[in-house]
Amino acid sequence: MQQIVIRRPDDWHLHLRDGAMLQGVLPETTRHFARAIIMPNLVPPVVTARDAAAYRDRILAALPEGAAFEPLMTLYLTEGTDPADVAAAAGSGLVKAVKLYPAGATTNSHSGVRDLGAVMPVLEKMAEIGLPLCTHGEVTDPQVDIFDREAVFIDTVLAPLRRRLPELRVVMEHITTAEGAAYAAEAGPNLGATITTHHLIINRNHILVGGIKPHYYCLPVAKREHHRLALRRAATSGLPCYFLGTDSAPHVDALKEHACGCAGCFTATNTLPLLAHVFEEEGALDRLEGFASLHGPAFYRLPANDTTLRLVKRDEAHRFPDKIFTEAGPVTVFDPGFPVHWHVEA
Ligand code: NCD
Ligand code: ZN
Repeated sequence: MQQIVIRRPDDWHLHLRDGAMLQGVLPETTRHFARAIIMPNLVPPVVTARDAAAYRDRILAALPEGAAFEPLMTLYLTEGTDPADVAAAAGSGLVKAVKLYPAGATTNSHSGVRDLGAVMPVLEKMAEIGLPLCTHGEVTDPQVDIFDREAVFIDTVLAPLRRRLPELRVVMEHITTAEGAAYAAEAGPNLGATITTHHLIINRNHILVGGIKPHYYCLPVAKREHHRLALRRAATSGLPCYFLGTDSAPHVDALKEHACGCAGCFTATNTLPLLAHVFEEEGALDRLEGFASLHGPAFYRLPANDTTLRLVKRDEAHRFPDKIFTEAGPVTVFDPGFPVHWHVEA
């Protein structure tokens, strides 16, 4: 029997939604994670400090009994965002980051940013106070192929922004390309990059070969195999710039299995056994704790958790449900397509 004990992990990119869906999916995260950066792309989005405080209260009210879980709130950056409101929300400790969605890039991003120039006063304030900007790093120009949108974002948006405001602390959220991993490795201490569990496991063939598989469709969309391999090397490199952000993004099955299916993979339920499997395959189990539990808090200038979690490899495969049943409807759990023998024990 093989086992590892790691500090309790955190999820640095998570969608919890609201209402019945929040109630249904929250226990899937609180079972294993101590904290999570909560994405603000609700309808309507979490834009102001007041919105974030109210959303945090709804999350806390939905916590399963006895759960010790801290939601780390974010604000959704709009062209109307007030720098003073952001600074006050950060100063009180309520908000840990601001999220940039290029308008139209992903689920509920229509209130996002069209012109970065319009939000420069907010970004300058964030650079001054050290508040991280989480970026959905894809351009939305219809001329740019969807598989190239991350690389083009880096060249045309991220790099120029960081040259203009080098003190701004930035997280490249859910990187999916070799270019993204390489940019993060070179960028220095003001930049971090989250990597999802599913992008370590699937490439674009999983979505498209042998029939379309809507539960593997997420944004940024999974790329070619060589990008998946680059992400695996990055996640298991031990470099502090890379940390776990599951981007677990629940949608009810009726909206995934649809003529215009929603983007998002729901991985909260089985992320840790899957990560142990991947890190073992890469011969890097000793680096799982850094990726899942240490690098994220270091970037966000928070202490690592002081409790631990034990992962045990057993002969029998881990059995996770195909779906979880929320009051909003069933949500399909990410299927890695292979048996996983790692189990979370405590
Ligand atoms: C996310 C969602 O559903 O909110 N979807 C996804 O495919 N990852 C949005 C996002 O993070 O892009
Ligand atoms: Zn997301």
